Amino acid sequence: MRRKLAAGNWKMNGLGAGLSEVAALKAAHPAPGVDVLLCPPATLLARMSEVAGDTIATGGQDCHDAKNGAHTGDISAAMLADAGASHVILGHSERRQDHDETDNDVRQKAKAVMAAGLIAVICVGESLDEREHANTLQIIGGQLAGSIPDAATAANLVVAYEPIWAIGTGKIPTLDQIGEVHDFIRDTLERRFGPGVGRSTRILYGGSVKPSNATEIFAVSNVDGALVGGASLKAADFSPIITALEQA
Ligand code: PGA
Repeated sequence: MRRKLAAGNWKMNGLGAGLSEVAALKAAHPAPGVDVLLCPPATLLARMSEVAGDTIATGGQDCHDAKNGAHTGDISAAMLADAGASHVILGHSERRQDHDETDNDVRQKAKAVMAAGLIAVICVGESLDEREHANTLQIIGGQLAGSIPDAATAANLVVAYEPIWAIGTGKIPTLDQIGEVHDFIRDTLERRFGPGVGRSTRILYGGSVKPSNATEIFAVSNVDGALVGGASLKAADFSPIITALEQA
């Protein structure tokens, strides 16, 4: 009932030449058995959307909460949609850290994304210090409550659990730790939005997902896919992750 999602976040990586990786991915998965999403830098979005066609969805990595206006350097949800995007990643820990984005900022952006008819991929996750010295579930609960707008539905929201200490480090939580947080996110969504929305909303795991660990992560309860950084840049790395999800 929840269609699985393999999502790639290219972050600030990729020039035009990198679009050959998208063509290679499409050739390897002409009719994927899961949803596949790539979120390139904004400069590549329109061109990537053309290469990706109907096979691979594309998305932005952030947006402004206004529709348009005097906001130099910013991009609106409508602009991302115009460039071919169907999704927007919001509240990634690198945005929260580098740009001081708060839960409230993320919620305002998510409202704009949903109002533009796009899907918000809202990221939450604890720092290493929080994992070691605080109650991780309480941290995640606060981020969910603050970042997800009331307008969320299973059709316009994806939640990504990304422990900050697992991003780009090669470290992942134990499978029990991943399961504990994903079960908690599922319960939280069910309590706030009711069982229909709560049970149908997809929850991704992100942080050092690789071909070598994808299968075991995808076997964890309430893991509906992955948000992949480094291993989404090359078709040779992302393709086996897609295959592992298809087989999960
Ligand atoms: P990583 O990044 O796969 O390179 O660890 C994940 C993310 O930040 O989404």
